[in-house]
Amino acid sequence: MEELTFSGTDRAQLYRQLIPQIKGLVEGETSLIANLANVAAALKQTFGFFWVGFYIVEGNELVLGPFQGEIACTRISLGKGVCGTCWSEKKSVLVPNVEEFPGHIACSAKSKSEVVVPIIKSGNVVGVLDVDSSELNDFSEADVEGLEQIVALINQQF
Ligand code: SME
Repeated sequence: MEELTFSGTDRAQLYRQLIPQIKGLVEGETSLIANLANVAAALKQTFGFFWVGFYIVEGNELVLGPFQGEIACTRISLGKGVCGTCWSEKKSVLVPNVEEFPGHIACSAKSKSEVVVPIIKSGNVVGVLDVDSSELNDFSEADVEGLEQIVALINQQF
C-alpha cells in the first residue's frame, strides 16, 4: 500500500489527482466496508474536512457507516436533514450555510457548511456521502463533481 501523493492546493486539481488513486485503492478490494472506510480517510487526509462519512440505506432510514471525524447521528429518516433530502431528491445537495438549511440536523455545532452526494445503484439511492466543513461556504461545484466521481467508483459494490 503506497501513500497518496499530490501537488498543488487547488481543490479541482486535487480531486483530479485523488480520483485515480482512490480507483486503485478500491478496485482490488471486494469489502464494501473496507472501501468506504478508506475513501472517508482519503478525503479527510487530502482536504482536512471536519467530517467525512457514509450513511447507508437500511429500510426507511439512513444508518451511519464508515466515517472520519467526531461521533455523529446514527439514523436519519427519508427527507430529513441534508442527508435525507439528498436521498429523497436523488441528487447532490450543497449547503453553503447549514443554519440556513431548513431541517438541517446538527450532529456538531462546529459544522458550518455541507455537501451530500447520493450513491445510486440501478436507479436507487443505496447511501450517501456526507462531507462537513467547519468553514462557512467551503464547497463549490468542484466538490460536487469530484465527490460524484468518487462515489461512482464504489456504487456497484453495494
Ligand atoms: N448534517 C447532516 C447530518 C449528518 S452529520 O452532519 C454528520 C444532515 O443534516 O443530514
